[in-house]
Amino acid sequence: MAGAAPQHTDAEGVDAGVGLTALLVAAARAIETHRHDSLAQDIYAEHFVRAAPACATWPVRIQQVPDGDGNPLWGRFARYFGLRTRVLDDFLLRSVRRSARQVVLLGAGLDTRAFRLDWPSDCVVFEIDRAGVLAFKHQVLKDLSATPKVKRVPVPVDLRADWVTALTTAGLDPAAPSVWLAEGLLFYLPGPIETYLIDTVDRLTTQGSALAFEAKLEKDLLEYRDSPIYTATREQIGIDLLHLFDKGPRPDSAGSLTAKGWSTSMHRPFDFTRRYGRGPLPEPNDALEGNRWVFAHKPSP
Ligand SMILES: C[S@@+](CC[C@H](N)C(=O)[O-])C[C@H]1O[C@@H](n2cnc3c(N)ncnc32)[C@H](O)[C@@H]1O
Repeated sequence: MAGAAPQHTDAEGVDAGVGLTALLVAAARAIETHRHDSLAQDIYAEHFVRAAPACATWPVRIQQVPDGDGNPLWGRFARYFGLRTRVLDDFLLRSVRRSARQVVLLGAGLDTRAFRLDWPSDCVVFEIDRAGVLAFKHQVLKDLSATPKVKRVPVPVDLRADWVTALTTAGLDPAAPSVWLAEGLLFYLPGPIETYLIDTVDRLTTQGSALAFEAKLEKDLLEYRDSPIYTATREQIGIDLLHLFDKGPRPDSAGSLTAKGWSTSMHRPFDFTRRYGRGPLPEPNDALEGNRWVFAHKPSP
């Protein structure tokens, strides 16, 4: 928040708190990668999991899970992340083929899209996350001698601080079209920070730009406290997602973008399960019930 931004010097890494959720998604992507009917391939994902002492006992293949696909965490929830990865891969690639050459990954975590997708050669990918998370990611990728397929710019900054200065200083050109992604991020942020983020994406984008984000619509997050997904995540790997999610009121970010002239569409992940032929379907007491994937485009003249 330019000007009056609070100073967040929190450099927490991937070994605790919300940083650990980046490893959870990496483990899910590792499992997805090794499936015979994989929706997304991320050869780096298992290396993140193996490099972090905090997840030394986590699986990276579904065969390592005693109850396999019947496991709510490593079966159904991991497949959810696999589907999400693929759908958002496709969204980003469509957007850069259309017009955008700048990609901004908000709360990028251990996202390796800069290394694994085939981008137009003049693209640049900005990765925003906290310093500790990006430092861990850098070390693992360096040890693997991994080379990005495109210009990649890590932007270590907390999204509760002045990330706009950090991003523009890192090279984002607000006068050229861009595509933005907030995957698995917004529900960890306080509502006013989300409002500021969405307003700022609008301010920093020209026509022809796009944004995708994930939201949770349920009025009371605790309603699903005993759902198989939350229970398994708590009991098997000690991550209490409901503890990490912000509990305050959520802004209507899709509505706010529509009011600013963006064209938006909101989808249930289950719609994509049907479209791609695999992924989670609705079930009783389902923590995924309120999840929505929102796609927004700032129309060209
Ligand atoms: C569930 S992970 C998702 C990571 C990545 N987008 C993906 O889907 O693989 C959430 C990420 O948001 C980041 N995050 C949460 N709060 C943040 C903040 N205030 N500033 C910057 N990053 C934040 C965490 O560090 C973590 O990497």
